[in-house]
Amino acid sequence: VRLRAFVPIVTVAAGLVAWSVRSPAQPPEPERLAPPAQLVGRIQGVGGCAAAGCHNAPLAAGKAGTEYAVWNADPHGRAFATLQSDVYKNILTRLKGTAYTEELCLKCHATPEPDGSPLPHEFLADGIGCESCHGPSEKWRTTHYQQTWKNRSAADKLADGFFNTKDLAARVAKCAECHVGNETKDVNHDLIAAGHPRLNFEYTACHELLPRHWRDKASEAEPWEDKSKKFGPDFEAKAWLIGQAATAKAAVELTAARAKLAGQSTHPWPEFTEYGCFACHHDLKPKEKDDIGSTWRQSPRYANTPPGSPPWGTWVRPGLEALARVAPTLAPPGGDPFAELSALLSQPSPDPKQVSAKTAAAIRRLTDWQVSPPDAAGIRKLLAGLVADGLAHPPRDWDDAAQQYLALTALYQSLADLDPTAASPARRDLFLGLRKVLAYPPAVGGHQSNSPGGFAPEKYSQALQPFATEFRTPDAP
Ligand code: HEC
Ligand code: HEC
Ligand code: HEC
Ligand code: HEC
Repeated sequence: VRLRAFVPIVTVAAGLVAWSVRSPAQPPEPERLAPPAQLVGRIQGVGGCAAAGCHNAPLAAGKAGTEYAVWNADPHGRAFATLQSDVYKNILTRLKGTAYTEELCLKCHATPEPDGSPLPHEFLADGIGCESCHGPSEKWRTTHYQQTWKNRSAADKLADGFFNTKDLAARVAKCAECHVGNETKDVNHDLIAAGHPRLNFEYTACHELLPRHWRDKASEAEPWEDKSKKFGPDFEAKAWLIGQAATAKAAVELTAARAKLAGQSTHPWPEFTEYGCFACHHDLKPKEKDDIGSTWRQSPRYANTPPGSPPWGTWVRPGLEALARVAPTLAPPGGDPFAELSALLSQPSPDPKQVSAKTAAAIRRLTDWQVSPPDAAGIRKLLAGLVADGLAHPPRDWDDAAQQYLALTALYQSLADLDPTAASPARRDLFLGLRKVLAYPPAVGGHQSNSPGGFAPEKYSQALQPFATEFRTPDAP
């Protein structure tokens, strides 16, 4: 089976290192993964936000007040064009006669009503509107610019349906609703086989790719903005860790939903997208001419996965697994929260009921986890630790390597934000070298490959080697 429909998410391009000014780090505060809020109110449409006096000010893009223009040019603002595109229509054509209908697509590709009821089609042209992320504005549209609004607490605003995107864990959970999926919106292997790109969400990468209509870091704030309410130079490290935590939770919740609905016509079981794609989609050519068992897939295996079983969670597991090895104090207490779930799911026909029980346990552990992002010294140590760990545990596949690369870039970005002298052209070149190994093969005959076909773990390890001397710290593990 050859792999066709991979999305080149991996941002592998993430704009490495903006050279920002040093500002004091904020003390790390533990974060908890709050349960998702049930939002009240109904969608009002983007039209109500787009007045010049509101979010469509005639200023340079990026300035406060220009949110509409920035959003309008981002993938969410342009989402209506996708609904009219051939790729989109072709997916629907291939799904004809199945239980999947366009209502499913619109839950992510337009602005969904929070209660899951179908969106009035007059709002389709809005694309993925402001209220997709900020909450349905029925109850707050006419009050959220008043002085009294500013004095209200986040919880109080939430009660009116105004979602707290400033809280990083809540924000990532919001992105994950569509970029990972949930019980009511699911991009499964049927959709992918019909041509949908794979969803491999990693927060810092997605964040980097999105033209932002806001400023997260104090160093980016406008002169009049309250810097104490912004993130410090440790933002990227924090965003990586909280992103991993919130994404893991969203992914396990999705597994739980799939187990619950297992066997329904829209929920084949087990769900292939949760497994390593390359376990099934690969050629069988041995690497060494005379050794049948010599493909890279056969060497370092995922724990609990016997030869012949597809490994589970190749995209969501590596980050937390490595964290548990390198920095147990930052990781969820008690080690890898996925270990038991993954062992069960790697059996040939895992029992959905047993899976439900294991997902409940994993969700509990992730919810109880007090996520405490590292301080400046911790960031250095973590970066050095992950490099050493990456060399000690060569990547098992592309997913593994890509997650490691994204973790390293986020930490390096933070290091450079903390101390601009840490960013050098030579170091940047090292990162570009790693990225090159992860890149998809060049276009052949005008067709851009969207799968990391020629990926070779040993080349990744080679490119990682110089990081060990470059990012060594005296107290690194
Ligand atoms: C769980 C939410 C979700 C559902 C349901 C969903 N999609 Fe998507 N879709 C996404 C996300 C997120 C992306 C962007 C992926 C990326 O680039 O990381 C996307 C990307 C796409 C793209 C590629 C757009 C481009 O410009 O490259 C097409 C086409 C598409 N979806 C069509 C569909 C169709 C057709 C359906 C219904 C059969 C559907 N989607 C259902 C979330 C969803
Ligand atoms: C994909 C999700 C998403 C969409 C869609 C979206 N926003 Fe945002 N918005 C965010 C996030 C995340 C933040 C950053 C956290 C914060 O400041 O609340 C933000 C911040 C803001 C801010 C605060 C900016 C500042 O200077 O602090 C405003 C105002 C805003 N958005 C308005 C809008 C408007 C208007 C639209 C539609 C035209 C829109 N947003 C669409 C996610 C989104
Ligand atoms: C309501 C669903 C929804 C939410 C919530 C959402 N997105 Fe998206 N996002 C999509 C869809 C669908 C696409 C693909 C749009 C297209 O190509 O037409 C997309 C595309 C993107 C892309 C472009 C992907 C690529 O490969 O270039 C980025 C980056 C992105 N989203 C980031 C975010 C971030 C960050 C958040 C949270 C702050 C977020 N999104 C919240 C549905 C959503
Ligand atoms: C357990 C095995 C298995 C796993 C894991 C798996 N697939 Fe598949 N996939 C199949 C089979 C079997 C088919 C149908 C055979 C065919 O179409 O050639 C298929 C078909 C497809 C197709 C359509 C056929 C094609 O070649 O374009 C795509 C695209 C695809 N899979 C992508 C993925 C992606 C992306 C992942 C990982 C997120 C994945 N698959 C994980 C077994 C698997």
